[in-house]
Amino acid sequence: MPGFFRTLSRDLRAPLHRKRAFDLLHKLHSEKLPLEGVVERSIKLGTNGWYRVRSLQVLSEITGLAREVAALKPKIILEIGTARGGTALIWAHIAEKKLVTCDLLDKRGFADLVRAFPPPGSQCDVSVLIGDSHSPEFLERVRKELDGELVDFLFIDGDHTEAGVTQDYEFYSPLVRPGGLIAFHDIVDDQPLETNEVQHFWKKLSPGKETKEFVNDPDQCGFGIGVLKVPETADG
Ligand SMILES: C[S@@+](CC[C@H](N)C(=O)[O-])C[C@H]1O[C@@H](n2cnc3c(N)ncnc32)[C@H](O)[C@@H]1O
Repeated sequence: MPGFFRTLSRDLRAPLHRKRAFDLLHKLHSEKLPLEGVVERSIKLGTNGWYRVRSLQVLSEITGLAREVAALKPKIILEIGTARGGTALIWAHIAEKKLVTCDLLDKRGFADLVRAFPPPGSQCDVSVLIGDSHSPEFLERVRKELDGELVDFLFIDGDHTEAGVTQDYEFYSPLVRPGGLIAFHDIVDDQPLETNEVQHFWKKLSPGKETKEFVNDPDQCGFGIGVLKVPETADG
């Protein structure tokens, strides 16, 4: 029942929340902040209800990743796991041509806001895809969106079980260009949820590969970002 009332309350206040969200997004755009400022604001934009934009990230970790991704000058970014759009807002400021962000769950008009994430003057077009990243039909939808082009940066932050992250890697890593980057969230050993198993996947994936980690404190509970560089050539 509390879920019912929360939904009703969000529905009733949606027009107000929507207006505030677009106002805050336009304010962010008008400030023309450096990348670090965009990251800080993106993980907690201050919006509410169906239009709440935020991200559970450690600021130093996500800032480190954003710098790494921006240095690639990426044309196309693919994200598995939109959630409240915090990281999508960052990628929308970095991708020059396209951001494809995917999630299981639809949040009413939230996708309208996500499509408005790129700053004025950006050529970045945002596609919000709703569905199960593990289904072959969904992979096909992503491929269609990319229209034969490869991705410069893939952020895998969806299903955090070992089987789930493994499948996302197997499905979507072939869509990343040689020299591109793939990042995974929640790689530290100590995780708050039993279903967070990305750390096991990362331990198996990373040996012998070109990787980088953004971990604020190795003893922290949760978080930590692992980045894999896709080899420039087939023999690595
Ligand atoms: C940790 S959140 C993503 C956070 C987001 N990247 C950020 O930091 O702003 C994980 C999201 O992945 C989505 N998800 C989980 N399993 C999925 C699946 N099989 N297909 C698509 N999305 C999935 C969940 O619905 C959830 O919104």
